[in-house]
Amino acid sequence: MISFAFATATRIEFGAGRSAHLPAAVAELGSRPIVCTGATPERFRTLLTGLSDARSWPVGGEPSVDDVRAGVAAAREHGADVVVGLGGGAVLDAAKLIAALVPNDGDILDYLEVIGRAQPLQARPLPFVAVPTTAGTGSEVTMNGVVTSPEHGVKVSMRHPSMLADVALVDPELTLGCPPAVTASSGLDALTQCLEPYMSPFANPLTDSFCVEGLRRAGRGLRRAYSHGDDLDARTDMALCSLLGGLALANAKLGAVHGLAGVIGGLTGAPHGLTCATLLVECCRGTVAALRERAPEHPSLGRYAAAGELLSGTASVDALLDWLAETVAMLDVPTVGQLGITPEQYPRICRQAAASSSMKGNPIVLSADELEEILRRSA
Ligand SMILES: NC(=O)c1ccc[n+]([C@@H]2O[C@H](COP(=O)([O-])OP(=O)(O)OC[C@H]3O[C@@H](n4cnc5c(N)ncnc54)[C@H](O)[C@@H]3O)[C@@H](O)[C@H]2O)c1
Repeated sequence: MISFAFATATRIEFGAGRSAHLPAAVAELGSRPIVCTGATPERFRTLLTGLSDARSWPVGGEPSVDDVRAGVAAAREHGADVVVGLGGGAVLDAAKLIAALVPNDGDILDYLEVIGRAQPLQARPLPFVAVPTTAGTGSEVTMNGVVTSPEHGVKVSMRHPSMLADVALVDPELTLGCPPAVTASSGLDALTQCLEPYMSPFANPLTDSFCVEGLRRAGRGLRRAYSHGDDLDARTDMALCSLLGGLALANAKLGAVHGLAGVIGGLTGAPHGLTCATLLVECCRGTVAALRERAPEHPSLGRYAAAGELLSGTASVDALLDWLAETVAMLDVPTVGQLGITPEQYPRICRQAAASSSMKGNPIVLSADELEEILRRSA
């Protein structure tokens, strides 16, 4: 029996040049915006000039709990009534969290999962406009924001359906300037966010169709966007892959790659997409091996083969693993060891990852030994 719920941003606009609608989209929602940008706001200066009474709030990197607290204070001081995030996933998450926390009492720790009290939001967040400049995280259509807690050495989410953006403006032209390293890490994250929800026990016909199209786009666009950053068709493929992955993950969850990456990212501070990329091949290999051993009739095995066809043109699990391994090598992805992780850390990483919410969508529960083997093979 098919039965599911699906939630996303109130309005999604996609296409080259769409970001020019930013001032009009903001004006529909408020009159005193706070605009979260990356550390180099000049990059998108022309977009920002159309916003009046705006306060700019640069976000230096993947946001910490203190960065978000400071952003909330700045937004309240400005009297902000709408929040814009214009940047990569780090900026979008910071903006999403600021929008959620400004009208709510208490501290971010009251609402964070895992290290906090995970309370639901009482008041509706400020209106939020998300404009991604990487492709990407899909954060423009997800209901969570991720923060690092240096004190706890983890990355965790705050999550609530009301945190979905009011408007998502996805403009592939904004990603044309992404250097190859950013294209690689964000692009492999986008691909993973189409692959993991496709295998998830929470998948539904809507998320499946997004994953299939997202994987097809990644197969066509990822290597090309990396090698020819000025190719708008390839950038468009990857912007769509990212958007489709966000739509899928928000409604069907993720798997072992994100479960392990959340913990390793918290320990090392390595960029999120890069961390996912280091784990991608061996998480697929390990999950397929576990399925073949303990659940040989599992439908996900057929889906891994289908993903092989969407990415490489050949419908087999081996073709999928070969294509992923070749792409990861081509895009110069480091190993888990090169991220600074040592074998002594494996048991703790695997324990924490097994308990994470990101792990919940893996098609089969992996044992501690299987997770450690994935880390050994990714080293
Ligand atoms: N909320 C979600 O659903 C979700 C999902 C996945 C990841 N995330 C979070 O997203 C973050 C990662 O996002 P990301 O991969 O986009 O990286 P990022 O936002 O950290 O950006 C990476 C780098 O690219 C630069 N950059 C961004 N756009 C650029 C452009 N157009 N041209 C040149 N440089 C540009 C940034 O300044 C930064 O230095 C992590 O914090 C991760 O936890 C959130």
